[in-house]
Amino acid sequence: MNMDRETVRIFDTTLRDGEQSPGASMNVEEKTVIARQLEKLGVDVIEAGFAVSSPGDFDSVARVAQTVSRPIVLSLARTRELDINQAIKSVEKATHPGIHIFIATSDLHLQRKLMMSRQEVLDAAAWAVGFAKKHVDYIEFSAEDASRSDWEYLVQVFAEVIKQGAVTINVPDTTGYAVPDEFGALFKYLTTNTPGGDRVCWSAHCHNDLGMAVANSLAAVRNGARQIECTVNGIGERAGNTSMEEVVMAIRTRHDFFHLRTNVVSEQIYPASRLLSQVTGLTVPANKPIVGANAFAHEAGIHQDGVLKDKLTYEIMRPESVGISSNKLVLGKHSGRHAFADRLKHLGIDLYEVDMNKAFDRFKRLADRKKHIYDDDLLAIVTEESVRAPDRFELLQLDVTSSSTTLPHAAVRLRIDGEERCGEGDGDGMVDACYKVISQITGVFPKLERYAVKAITGGTDALGEVSCLVSQDGVTATGQGAHTDVIQASALAFVNALNKLEARRTRYRRAEPDEGP
Ligand code: KIV
Ligand code: ZN
Repeated sequence: MNMDRETVRIFDTTLRDGEQSPGASMNVEEKTVIARQLEKLGVDVIEAGFAVSSPGDFDSVARVAQTVSRPIVLSLARTRELDINQAIKSVEKATHPGIHIFIATSDLHLQRKLMMSRQEVLDAAAWAVGFAKKHVDYIEFSAEDASRSDWEYLVQVFAEVIKQGAVTINVPDTTGYAVPDEFGALFKYLTTNTPGGDRVCWSAHCHNDLGMAVANSLAAVRNGARQIECTVNGIGERAGNTSMEEVVMAIRTRHDFFHLRTNVVSEQIYPASRLLSQVTGLTVPANKPIVGANAFAHEAGIHQDGVLKDKLTYEIMRPESVGISSNKLVLGKHSGRHAFADRLKHLGIDLYEVDMNKAFDRFKRLADRKKHIYDDDLLAIVTEESVRAPDRFELLQLDVTSSSTTLPHAAVRLRIDGEERCGEGDGDGMVDACYKVISQITGVFPKLERYAVKAITGGTDALGEVSCLVSQDGVTATGQGAHTDVIQASALAFVNALNKLEARRTRYRRAEPDEGP
């Protein structure tokens, strides 16, 4: 991929490093939906998974490779023949395939984890890149734990893999240990001293353990990096990875300082953030820069006064520039199909990807219960539809009663494989009662790992969005449900999770998790 020196390539690893975030595991359908949004967002590279780690991961990479056409699609691989062969196979249908090979280079990792000498690691890296290059042209090489590695040794390793054909050299701060001045200096040293370094794209991959991932990535860019590896909402291993929305908007908002650009369509940032949060159930903190609920909210009187007089007094970015609409009050009960479709288009939703009959039907039912329908309500409706697994179970009716003197009681009617089934029972709370009855009727008794409820918009008639994470026999699935009644939303989320769990258990029965990065 040829890019000018003024463009910073955005490498999105939401589907690989992001998925290593506790509770963020996604199935093939979910990853495909996210990948489509990433393409719309304009990221340059998508790291779709670690193909050798499980058949599920292999399938996900292969599906993403066939789904998107503009970005490079990569699979991660260790310096092993099996890893590289699986990675090659997984991306073979991609329009722009690539392989991302990594091995650790710090003495700590060499001595305590790999039990290899520096020479052995150097040989393994060179062999792996040379081997992969025979099959795929686009090879990225990463020196895991680079920020704690000996600088001269890094130069030696990078020079060798460049000789073997690596076109992108990634320098990870795997443990989030670096500080900006030091990380910037490392890039200066590497880009100046590595033989062949002028022929490759230098890349920064940072973790956020000390809250410096974005600052470190920007320091790398100031010192020659032209690729940033990041994730939507900054999800990722431990404290997460560099947040895509923060680096992209920093580069854009401070163009006067960086004199750089990215290919990201910034208006797609908020839809991407919401979609990921809905799919994974990982909520975005209200004070998260760019995409948090308070990111553009002005509370103090003096600030409100200033903003009313001139937005620039307290706003360095316009909410519209990241896809947060200021015209939030949109539709109501009397809005027709045309207005509905029009609004979805305005929100950047591809109408060909939406089952319009279903989505419009859901909108009408919501409008019956809720006076004002906001953009976020519409996004919740369509994203919930788009990540819905083919349904074995369908919730037809739910009646729940609760009082201060009796146990909460739920009566549930479901359709299972086309047949109607009913059941009822008590629970410790209303959600507990309906989850127990749904489990009895379906015969699926997963462990509820996580349950989260969030009001999407304001007011007592706000649409409540419930996401839950369930697990059974080592297989996990998330479920989402949106409704003005949170108990109904909870039941919809649980049934959605059961459908996905059933689909995954059938599909991935062969799956064997492997040692990851
Ligand atoms: O953090 C890290 O070192 C990684 C590598 C595999 C690139 O994720
Ligand atoms: Zn990482």
